[in-house]
Amino acid sequence: MLENSKGANGVVQIDGDKWREQRRFALHTLRDFGVGRPLMEQKIMLEVEALVDFLGKESRNGQEKVELNAPIANCVGNIINNMLFSCRFKQGDLKMTKLHHLLDRQSQIVMKSIMGAYITCPWTTKIPVLNSKWLELMDIKRQLCAFLAEQIAEHREKWDIIREEQAEVEDLTYAYMKEVERRMRSGEDVGFFDDLQLQMLLLDLFFAGMETTVTTLKWAFLLVAKNPSIQKRVQEELDQLGEISQISLAEKTRLPLTQATINEIQRIANILPFNLLRTVGISTKIDGFSFEKGDLIIPQVSILMNDPEIFDEPHIFNPDRFLDENYNVKKIEEFLPFSIGRRQCLGESLAKAELFLVFANLLKNFEIRVEDTVSMERVLGLTVSPPVYKCELRRRIL
Ligand code: HEM
Repeated sequence: MLENSKGANGVVQIDGDKWREQRRFALHTLRDFGVGRPLMEQKIMLEVEALVDFLGKESRNGQEKVELNAPIANCVGNIINNMLFSCRFKQGDLKMTKLHHLLDRQSQIVMKSIMGAYITCPWTTKIPVLNSKWLELMDIKRQLCAFLAEQIAEHREKWDIIREEQAEVEDLTYAYMKEVERRMRSGEDVGFFDDLQLQMLLLDLFFAGMETTVTTLKWAFLLVAKNPSIQKRVQEELDQLGEISQISLAEKTRLPLTQATINEIQRIANILPFNLLRTVGISTKIDGFSFEKGDLIIPQVSILMNDPEIFDEPHIFNPDRFLDENYNVKKIEEFLPFSIGRRQCLGESLAKAELFLVFANLLKNFEIRVEDTVSMERVLGLTVSPPVYKCELRRRIL
């Protein structure tokens, strides 16, 4: 959707052989550091613990209302940054706040109607005044790229030592450098691997991995605060686990209502009502409409999640719709928050682990309340967010 500064790079906006190769690399690498592995879960849990501690202090047991956006963004940002380039920021760190702000602003700008002109008639990006949003977007990209270039430079400096010591690589940036060397040493084609591509791949993963998960969690806590009876039922389910200090992924199967509630949050939040701009690969006809090779389209897979024939009274927040008669989580084919097909979300398993661990552990620790006046309006950006809200967080007696 967004044109990169020097041609198409990254993974979200490219296609063909380059997309296949780079997506495969990213998927394999994320799987290698994967959420299935205890080390990664431990890393996520460190961030969740830091979030719970921070919110406990900030809220002074419900005496101070807390705005969740920045602390959640810090937690989720640390999880993805850790995977991408082993970098983390303390809660409240100004650099993280700035990065989060840049991502938010980027998400708003790309939805401006003028973007259509920039994409279809690129010469409009050169017309003074008309190009103001384009210039702002490029400036944001420059700042984000400068941050990523710093991370890559630090990795390059340490790479020789890591290679010599044959130390295990623990982030995607080192894995990328290792892959390039492996290919060169074995005489294999280096393919589309290069430094600019690495930077843009990091940018795509950072943006896609952060924006979506943070937005979903913002909705999650607002929806349970607005539906206290559901919040209470989830907390009762969590309490049945007994005296454990943290809820881990191993507990997931014992928490059907918690899982159903997260599904319902994703369904009703429907944070990506439009999928990304895609190009038709092969001319085809669907329902009498012709789609020619090269046409630009914006699929709307998420429309299914609001279809009253599939989800009865779709505007009502009702986690029970995801439970069957035996109180097991029901698989509903049309529930597709991560899309479907070859362009399906690349970070789905990471996102699911994050949503579960953050949601379950926060609800285990806090009762969340908001004033009745807090709005549930849908604010359109690249993802749909709730308006900024403050909530009361009361420590639960465990
Ligand atoms: C709740 C969290 C998330 C949601 C709801 C979500 C949703 C989606 C959806 C619907 C798409 C498909 C867009 C299309 O139709 O083209 C997508 C693509 C993508 N997602 Fe996610 N995502 C989430 C988290 C993540 C995370 C944590 C990462 C990073 C590790 C990530 C990385 C990506 C990438 C790179 C793509 C583009 C894939 C490609 O074009 O081949 N997402 N995501």
